[in-house]
Amino acid sequence: MTSSLDGIGNAQEAAKRNLWLHFTRMSSYEDSDVPVIVRGSGAYVFDQHGRRYLDGLSGLFVTQVGHGRQEIAEAGARQAAELAYFPLWSYAHPKAIELAARLAELAPGELNRVFFTTSGSEAVESAWKLAKQYFKLTGEPGRYKVISRDIAYHGTSMGALAITGLADIKHPFEPLVPGGVRVPNTNFYRAPDFLAGDEAMFGQWAADEIERAILREGPESVAAVFLEPVQNSGGCFPPPPGYFERVRDICDRYGVLLVSDEVICAFGRLGYYFGSERYGYQPDIITFAKGVTSGYAPLGGMMVTDKLMEPFSSGTATFLHGITFAGHPVSTAVALANLDIFEKEDLLGNVRANEAAFRATLEKLYDLPIVGDVRGAGYFYGIEMVKDKVTRETFTSEESERLLRGFLSQALFDAGLVCRADDRGDPVVQLAPPLICGQEHFDEIERILRAVLTEAWARL
Ligand SMILES: Cc1ncc(COP(=O)(O)O)c(C=O)c1O
Repeated sequence: MTSSLDGIGNAQEAAKRNLWLHFTRMSSYEDSDVPVIVRGSGAYVFDQHGRRYLDGLSGLFVTQVGHGRQEIAEAGARQAAELAYFPLWSYAHPKAIELAARLAELAPGELNRVFFTTSGSEAVESAWKLAKQYFKLTGEPGRYKVISRDIAYHGTSMGALAITGLADIKHPFEPLVPGGVRVPNTNFYRAPDFLAGDEAMFGQWAADEIERAILREGPESVAAVFLEPVQNSGGCFPPPPGYFERVRDICDRYGVLLVSDEVICAFGRLGYYFGSERYGYQPDIITFAKGVTSGYAPLGGMMVTDKLMEPFSSGTATFLHGITFAGHPVSTAVALANLDIFEKEDLLGNVRANEAAFRATLEKLYDLPIVGDVRGAGYFYGIEMVKDKVTRETFTSEESERLLRGFLSQALFDAGLVCRADDRGDPVVQLAPPLICGQEHFDEIERILRAVLTEAWARL
């Protein structure tokens, strides 16, 4: 056992011997150091050698207000000193009450009830459980299935994994929770030939695929549809015009709940507190996590409409679900301090004012032969890489392995940019910088991507 980490050598040894990194091939560090991030300030983080990196992914779509915010750290410390912990099982505490009221104020429509969790997976899990119990209490006990989109990521716990649309991360854990049904996503760049070139028709088709799935499964068996405002996995698929309006209509027609999974898209990522606000639709449930605290402490949750709460608000009915650390006093205090910064610094305004510039800066990369599509919204972008821009031919799995795992991820990091090279759909580089960023950060992102993507193309 290693007891002291005062030397970099010791930390490396212990990282390799004792720590298990998430979604990481541990063998990839056999011959190289595990990167150790020790400190953050604004849009930058620093490693154990003092090297600086632009945090182009906000950690993991989390650090909206940037790193090193003293006032958030202090709010957490004050709360820990006053009341470090008490559960939300039968009791409340002031910060959970205050945050719930503040979120209800910010959320669209009748989303007035907040059920806290500690993570996004738990938020998704909670939303599915609520949908099931709600329908059992309201005379439709057969409704348990959930519809979600191809390649979409909704978390890793067993329920959330059944909603996730990524076959590779599901197979090892089968059999999964029954009831997960998949429909096409809104990747317009890869739209079927008969819809290519007409985004509105593509959106109509993709929404109608949800209706077809409901009819195929039997409407009396479908509880909910889980959709992100902009789908992350696959590299940022924004909704085509009219898509959510049509989905809302379909859900209403068949009595199915619309869950907006905003674990990434809420809290300013798209320039609004909630992504559903940006696209003008009213969800029955919003799931959130990540940006609610900017990562200064873990917190997630779901917001539900008064109508969904109704069967639980009288008599003996109880939502039979709970999590020890959900709505933790320190996390809720931190979330309130985080939202204070959003207001004080008008971070939503900053994203709205700068998003066109962010897009335009990334679109400069279109002159590179490897850049096929630049897509996204707000401060949330994916850049799809292709072998042939004209035919949109993608890479073989061997090329993708060599390009992404063998070169890109490490090269981008070595060049000073934290972002994500991902091939869970077609190969993409994903970007989601802190909401405090401006043109100088966009330029730095573009400069590094240009150099590294040029080198990647030369190596193919
Ligand atoms: C849309 C969405 N839902 C759920 C999750 C799961 O969140 P967590 O990792 O906090 O469990 C994620 C995580 O990235 C996500 O992007």
